[in-house]
Amino acid sequence: MLDRIGELRSEVEAAIAASQATGDLEEIRVRYLGRKAELTTILRGIADLDPAERGPVGKAGNEARGALEAQLARRREELEAGELGERLAGDRIDVTLPGSPVAPAGSLNLLMRTRREIEDVFTGLGYRVMEGPEVELDYYNFTALNHPPGHPARMAQDTFYVDPGSLAPGIEPPPGPEDVLLRTHTSPMQVRAMEAQPPPIFIVVPGRTYRSDPFDATHSPVFHQVEGLAVGEDITLADLKGTLDAFAQAIFGPERETRFRPGFFPFTEPSVEVDVSCFACGGSGRLQSGERDPLCKGAGWIEILGAGMVDPNVYGFVASHGYDPERVQGFAFGMGIERIALLKHGVPDLRKFFENDVRVLEQFR
Ligand code: PHE
Repeated sequence: MLDRIGELRSEVEAAIAASQATGDLEEIRVRYLGRKAELTTILRGIADLDPAERGPVGKAGNEARGALEAQLARRREELEAGELGERLAGDRIDVTLPGSPVAPAGSLNLLMRTRREIEDVFTGLGYRVMEGPEVELDYYNFTALNHPPGHPARMAQDTFYVDPGSLAPGIEPPPGPEDVLLRTHTSPMQVRAMEAQPPPIFIVVPGRTYRSDPFDATHSPVFHQVEGLAVGEDITLADLKGTLDAFAQAIFGPERETRFRPGFFPFTEPSVEVDVSCFACGGSGRLQSGERDPLCKGAGWIEILGAGMVDPNVYGFVASHGYDPERVQGFAFGMGIERIALLKHGVPDLRKFFENDVRVLEQFR
């Protein structure tokens, strides 16, 4: 029995020495040290041996087993190191090189970038960003915004109306043919947002808007606005001023001021047109050369948006949603994203935003 153990040991040592790959070692392990291997069987049968044989056989068997396991482990390390070296040599890829061909990096259209900048300013002030439908009901676009019947903005030369028969199947067309339209401003979301959430409410609503306008340097039948709405119990015109100052400074520079001029919108009372002090001439209306500043046309101020205190009549349409006209008050504002982007970046023609000429877009990364 001892001789047999010695034989097995030499046999396995030879096999380990001859092995060329880690896979060979696994085969050797199973064959000579596995559950059904001869050495394992010998060790398991020790109890059946003559008592005099048990000690020496057990000792020799266990020693052989331990020695062989150690040799297997050592040889495995050697082979693994060699195999890794071979793989690395065969896989010579420099992962730090750029792909081939170099992938062109895209960039956002200046309109989208401007929209996001505006959103960032207002989310920083605690506002939430909401979106709403572009195909809108007359009720939200006009009626609930206190546009009296016969208001000129309702007329077809300003508003695109939608043929209810063209609506997707499953969408219930409302009663009158004049009732579905492409929203002419983002203001309908004032009403939808108040229906969806009780006061206090602080939201901005960016999105596409439509008017039956020509497509020229300063007009487009599709354009973009950002609406703002802040309603609570004690929000005043002074809060509107402070908010718009913060906005103008974030977008046009820390030196900017705003001024209010009287304006009119059916859904705000009082209404204001808001100007920002000109960032080209610093508000003086004159360039350093003494020439009249062409950007503000010498006025020192540039109109950027419309705003006002929400008209109590508008709350009347959402009174059942917690907006008691006797209790709540607040402000709304609306700005054109094209206008902000044109002014800020000196783009001479609004059509540049929509043509997607890469040479133009690349300038605004
Ligand atoms: N909706 C108005 C427009 O498109 C802008 C506006 C919004 C004015 C909110 C006052 C308050 O001209």
